[in-house]
Amino acid sequence: MIAVSMTVNGKAVSREIDERTLLVHFLRENLHLTGTHVGCDTSQCGACTVHLNGEAVKSCTTLALSADGAKVLTIEGLARGDALHPMQQAFGEHHGLQCGYCTPGMIMTALDMVRRLGNELDEQTIRHELEGSICRCTGYHNIVKAIAAGALAMDALPSPVTALSEG
Ligand code: FES
Ligand code: FES
Repeated sequence: MIAVSMTVNGKAVSREIDERTLLVHFLRENLHLTGTHVGCDTSQCGACTVHLNGEAVKSCTTLALSADGAKVLTIEGLARGDALHPMQQAFGEHHGLQCGYCTPGMIMTALDMVRRLGNELDEQTIRHELEGSICRCTGYHNIVKAIAAGALAMDALPSPVTALSEG
């Protein structure tokens, strides 16, 4: 066992873990943050995507130890009280989900897209960027619409991704 400490959704956490513990299991089992999902376990589906020091990573293939001292943002860290993040809101408004299993990863991926590419995202760009994110039930049409709308809605906020990542 080894001690690991990090800031998750703005809160400092420390735990003793097996050094082989994956970040997704650390989040789900040690911190009970079950919004981050496991789909494939092999870095292909994107259901486990979280932000590590502001950048999207697949937490199923990231060791928790490698996040020692880092800032982690999960889907649970986006809303402010009852107010959903604009990207979460857009997924609801544009019917960008059905079962919801892929949704947390899609949203964390979408926020990383906005951080890197800005608020005006065209359909082709979004579809290309979603290459590593798989949805088994909604189809991608409404997810793409939701991401485009959410990205535009974020434009009205003061540096939202950065602010959230710094939590
Ligand atoms: Fe991590 Fe599928 S569970 S990419
Ligand atoms: Fe069901 Fe995407 S909404 S897997």
